[in-house]
Amino acid sequence: MNIVILLGAPGSGKGTVAAALASADERLKHVSSGDLLRGAVAKGTPAGVEAKAFMERGQLVPDALIARMIKDVVAETEGDVTMLLDGFPRNLAQAGILEEMGAPVRSVVLIDVPDEIIQDRIAGRRTCPKCKAGYHVKNLPPKVEGVCDRCGAALEIRKDDNPETVKDRLAVYHADTEPLVEFYRSKGLLRVVDGTTGVENVAAAFLKAM
Ligand code: AP5
Repeated sequence: MNIVILLGAPGSGKGTVAAALASADERLKHVSSGDLLRGAVAKGTPAGVEAKAFMERGQLVPDALIARMIKDVVAETEGDVTMLLDGFPRNLAQAGILEEMGAPVRSVVLIDVPDEIIQDRIAGRRTCPKCKAGYHVKNLPPKVEGVCDRCGAALEIRKDDNPETVKDRLAVYHADTEPLVEFYRSKGLLRVVDGTTGVENVAAAFLKAM
């Protein structure tokens, strides 16, 4: 098992790219920290109850809480698999925790999208609560408006996708997550792809870079 970390602002396309690549190659496994947390919130587990208020405010949940979840997924992933790790680490402390786990990081790919584009990306995002498929009303619309192509469930708007919370999430990204760019660059692991072209182009560039 080895790990490719996806870095990028909220709405930069990390989840979309990782899901597209993983659905085309069974040796790629998409692990999203946000999906793990939203799953815990939906189930009402103790971790989910603790995480909920942080997520609704667009703040990071405590490092130890998300690290426990990632540790479990890393421990259960074996064999000829590349984990596409989306949303973790999110700050330098979490990068240190990942190193302590001894998880073999192969590369770190930054999907680069300027803040001006982020609000539009997030405003148009729709997600399937059942199978987690992601859509965008203009860029990646479902065949039938408001209905998931894959499983037929009604699409939803994420609670933290309102413009105010997005501003807070972007501020957290610049303050806490962006320092990881230099951290991984200094280790020779960082690759950068332009995230402003269409989904297929970004996915192809990502695959080449990783
Ligand atoms: P998380 O779920 O990780 O959210 P995020 O990082 O804010 O990222 P997003 O899911 O919003 O965006 P994305 O980059 O995956 O974009 P997407 O592919 O959907 O985290 C949520 C919360 O959980 C955090 O705020 C925090 O509270 C907590 N959390 C998570 N991890 C944590 C951690 N490690 N530590 C502490 N707390 C943590 O794309 C967006 C839209 O754009 C979609 O509609 C898509 O269709 C469209 N799109 C994508 N690519 C393109 C393209 N190339 N061209 C046009 N449109 C595109």
